[in-house]
Amino acid sequence: MTRPRKLFVKSYGCQMNVYDSRRMADTLAPEGFAETDRIEDADLVILNTCHIREKAAEKVYSELGRIRQLKADAASGGRKVTVAVAGCVAQAEGAEILRRAPAVDLVFGPQSYHRLPELLAKADRDGRAIDTDFPVEDKFDFLKQPTKQAVRARGVSAFVTVQEGCDKFCTFCVVPYTRGAEVSRPVEKIVAEATHLAEAGVREITLIGQNVNAFHGEGSDGASWTLAQLLYRIAEVPGVARLRYTTSHPCDVGDDLIAVHRDLPQLMPQLHLPVQSGSDRILAAMNRRHTRDDYLRVIDRLRTAQPAMVFTSDFIVGFPGETEDDFRQTMQLVADVEFNGSYSFKYSPRPGTPAADMDGQVPDAVMSERLQELQALIEQQLAAFNAASVGRTFDVLFEKAGRHPGQIVGRSPYLQPVHVTGASELIGKVARVDITDVTAYSLHGLLNGTGRAEPDHTRFLATAEA
Ligand code: 5AD
Ligand code: SF4
Repeated sequence: MTRPRKLFVKSYGCQMNVYDSRRMADTLAPEGFAETDRIEDADLVILNTCHIREKAAEKVYSELGRIRQLKADAASGGRKVTVAVAGCVAQAEGAEILRRAPAVDLVFGPQSYHRLPELLAKADRDGRAIDTDFPVEDKFDFLKQPTKQAVRARGVSAFVTVQEGCDKFCTFCVVPYTRGAEVSRPVEKIVAEATHLAEAGVREITLIGQNVNAFHGEGSDGASWTLAQLLYRIAEVPGVARLRYTTSHPCDVGDDLIAVHRDLPQLMPQLHLPVQSGSDRILAAMNRRHTRDDYLRVIDRLRTAQPAMVFTSDFIVGFPGETEDDFRQTMQLVADVEFNGSYSFKYSPRPGTPAADMDGQVPDAVMSERLQELQALIEQQLAAFNAASVGRTFDVLFEKAGRHPGQIVGRSPYLQPVHVTGASELIGKVARVDITDVTAYSLHGLLNGTGRAEPDHTRFLATAEA
């Protein structure tokens, strides 16, 4: 019998890469690859890379330097290690990677993941292989589903890609180039994937896409469906207690999506809605296609529909031409919306994007100062939000055993970790918890909460039989 080969996959960047890495592992499982979390044991190393900022891309090359040594050590012991680079750096830089990193055997872009077994064979045969095409066939038709056992090992919460690519062309962003034009998956395929996950014990599904609320997949009736329609449909899948979606663009928040936040108790009252800047001048230079007021109106409409809504966002500080006054407007917006989380970054010029050639590049020291100030305010707002959770009652989806005996840990609707003393049978179920205490980023509470949860999810309590 042949020894199962070991696969090590490392994901950089966004949730889409995390999802893609899992689908690659699922596709390689029938080929005899078992996943390992020790890179030294691996026969195949895949780096699933991110190209969004220069730092993210550079990390890959330093990791490849280390892997070169690892590969040489293995070779001296008579073991062959294959090294593959996937993801957006692979798509953007292609053959350049083979030139810069001699340890690499295979380079392939996000639209070629389903060809992985055949590409590995090609690299084996020809020495090295590269595939950064946008093929005509749909990779999702070929990627393998995880086994029920693999789903269980990954926990009660799962991602499902519903849409890829972006047509927005923000002037700083590489995504429209690396991931290509917007493509939505057909509704029935998404429903089948969600059903498979729920049958294996998943209770929370996050629909993901680079521009998820621009979803326009083909529905069961042959018509093009919106994200709102898709959410109502996924909510009907037995066992799905919670729904989320990310990442959204403010211009694609339609009235029907807002209505889902009002009507669908499964949809969690938290939304990640990137704004990037609070200054109209900078928003225009970014080609965001909305003003500060447009954004605030979207927030208002969502809060009117669902008063429990809480928002997180993405910010870029130091976009070319950003003045102190522009930055103050961003800070004011952060305070006005009371964001309690963010992915925030210093602007990083990306070759080939319009902003990289704009005048008024901001010095790094100024960007660092602004970033620190922005993150400090958001941290402070998060701490205040957590502190204000004490005395509230939340429905908590329990995920795993805690560090202390008899303790279990779950998440509130706002993704806060919640620790309680309780039976492990509650893992995979939703239970009501009175929040009694907060430490750092965690909440602590008592099971069988007696308060009224906001928003009210009574019909889902302990529904989730595995
Ligand atoms: N520099 C800094 N941050 C960027 N992002 C995208 N491109 C850049 C860039 N060139 C950020 C945006 C986006 C998130 C995914 O990454 O905030 O929403
Ligand atoms: Fe990039 Fe803008 Fe598209 Fe987001 S909406 S992926 S920031 S181009």
